Amino acid sequence: MEKEKFYITTPIYYPSDKLHIGHSYCTVATDAMARYKRARGYDVMFLTGTDEHGQKIERIADEHGVTPKEYVDGIVESVKELWKLMNISYDRYIRTTDDYHVKAVQKIFKALYDKGEIYKSEYEGLYCTPCESFFTEKDLVDGKCPDCGRPVEKVKEESYFFRLSKYGDRIIKLLEEHPEFLEPASRRNEMINNFLKPGLTDLCVSRTSFKWGVPVDFDEGHIVYVWIDALSNYITAMGYGSEDDSDFKKYWPADVHVVGKEIVRFHTIIWPAILMALDLPLPKKVFGHGWLIIDGGKMSKSKGNVVDPVVLCERYGVDAIRYFLLREIAFGQDGNFTNEALINRINSDLANDFGNLLSRTVGMIDKYFGGKLPAEQEEHPLNEEIKAFAEKTASQVEKYYDEMLFSDALNEIWGFIRRLNKYVDETAPWVLAKDESKKGLLAGIMYTLAEGLRIIGVMIEPCMPDTPGKCRIQLGIEGAELSAWDSIHSFGLLNREVNVTKGAVIFPRIDVKKELEAIEKSSGADKKTEKEAKKAEKKQEKKKKAAEAPSEIGIDDFGKVQMKVGKILECKPVENSDKLLVSQVKIGSETRQIVSGIEKWYSPDDLVGKKVIVVTNLKPVKLRGVLSQGMLLAASTGDRLVLAGVNGDIDDGADIS
Ligand code: ME8
Ligand code: MG
Repeated sequence: MEKEKFYITTPIYYPSDKLHIGHSYCTVATDAMARYKRARGYDVMFLTGTDEHGQKIERIADEHGVTPKEYVDGIVESVKELWKLMNISYDRYIRTTDDYHVKAVQKIFKALYDKGEIYKSEYEGLYCTPCESFFTEKDLVDGKCPDCGRPVEKVKEESYFFRLSKYGDRIIKLLEEHPEFLEPASRRNEMINNFLKPGLTDLCVSRTSFKWGVPVDFDEGHIVYVWIDALSNYITAMGYGSEDDSDFKKYWPADVHVVGKEIVRFHTIIWPAILMALDLPLPKKVFGHGWLIIDGGKMSKSKGNVVDPVVLCERYGVDAIRYFLLREIAFGQDGNFTNEALINRINSDLANDFGNLLSRTVGMIDKYFGGKLPAEQEEHPLNEEIKAFAEKTASQVEKYYDEMLFSDALNEIWGFIRRLNKYVDETAPWVLAKDESKKGLLAGIMYTLAEGLRIIGVMIEPCMPDTPGKCRIQLGIEGAELSAWDSIHSFGLLNREVNVTKGAVIFPRIDVKKELEAIEKSSGADKKTEKEAKKAEKKQEKKKKAAEAPSEIGIDDFGKVQMKVGKILECKPVENSDKLLVSQVKIGSETRQIVSGIEKWYSPDDLVGKKVIVVTNLKPVKLRGVLSQGMLLAASTGDRLVLAGVNGDIDDGADIS
């Protein structure tokens, strides 16, 4: 019989920053579901990837003095390494810079245009030139750019629009008639009341103010809006819009898109509308999870390294981190990340409850039976109850996993773990061990514990893929049928003659006080980034101050700025930068070296011989290590920039006033 398919996705991550532990949550949760479904016999397709286009990436790359592609290549490498470290079993990884994706997005855009779903019009908005960002009135802070505090300007830009407005009613119907489409329910009401009921407006789906994106192939200068590009990944990764779309035919529609709560809107309004416009089936479910809150919402810069998932995994082990993430964030809600919370969970749930159950079970079988249980066993009166408990736990856990309620599933499993620990106390094996006539009974109790642990191992495996193997070695469990998912419903499957091998403690207890001190110390390693952050803050403040300067100045103030006509004698690019040009500028009797960020608009050859306006009394600065003694004036708007010059023939060195 052919396996039933199950297609599950994570969001594709922005490679703009180092991923922090919060990002891992989404991926770990998706991985747990993918593993669960594989265990249940599904043909699983688990897709993840990176969302590599857009102005933000372009700007960050620029700040690093590399091309956007060079920049994202480096980050993608580290993202893949992180997923490997965290045991993320993805089947496919999409990069939106992949050639096949770019081509498919162009096809999608064109198809929508040909169908009249996309039309050309004018985008009117507010623009902050230094930040190269569009804003709406709402975004502004005191009427100024919310990012840098400088004034914004009204701009009109030719743009393409997607007819989102016409899909409002169909999407309301979708959410109302298919409550399973968006979970949890609270997010459904939010979408309906906050976004859909007030009415949708058409969506601007192209930009001309920057270059780093998928070009609209039938209209030069237009770049596809990054969310259209990004959302399409779920189908292009399956070959939609390419020569071989067999995977698309096989796996689409997706069974579930796992996304964070802040991007639910894109996945339950814009994405369905695009699919409707393309006449494609809709995903079956969007699951909007909550956030891992770090230091009250923000990631602390000074403690940056302790929320680095790589550091956390190295310190505590991958399964401990996966357990924490899946246990700490309840369905749809936010959870808190603190080192204390993490260490406490590790100590109480993993070291005490679980680790202890395993080590005492193995230890007792070793001590009382030389490591091997005899086949002749008697049942303790409580065994029936334990068996029933195990069976109830198994069906409940399955139900929770089916609904992606990992925290509930783990809580249920830990209920069983605690029940078994209590069972040890209730049956007091150490008392029975003293009485030779109770050996059969003692063996029966030990078997019940070992069998309980076997089932626990299978049930935690989707969340903690490394741990069950370690338990199996200690418990001498071999054979695929004993670790198969369905075996959780068959208490008693394990061979009676359990043969154990004492092993290392699977989750060592952590000394909270010492550990917190060590963490405190190691955050010192991040001092550099702290310094950098402070520097950036200062810069921002300076910018703000500049913007706050009185809007009118007296002639005296103006007179402070000295400007002269200069003639560019030589010009060449600054090394290690694709932004800066360095010019030798003759200003009357002197020649000055001036660095300007104009490489995007001018090639050095264009500039030689040009007369320009130079601010001559600016304090000299070094830009990328190159001395700059002044500034060339330029006019800019949107993505256009033109150097200021003089309107007629005049010698260099002439005063401007
Ligand atoms: O939004 N806790 O990418 P992204 C839980 N490229 N989840 C968190 C989190 C936290 N502290 N921080 C981030 C994007 N996430 C787009 C997606 S999909 C077509 C395009 C989650 O890198 C966040 O909620 O900003 C989101 O689901 C995912 O990480 C990627 O975020
Ligand atoms: Mg985001």
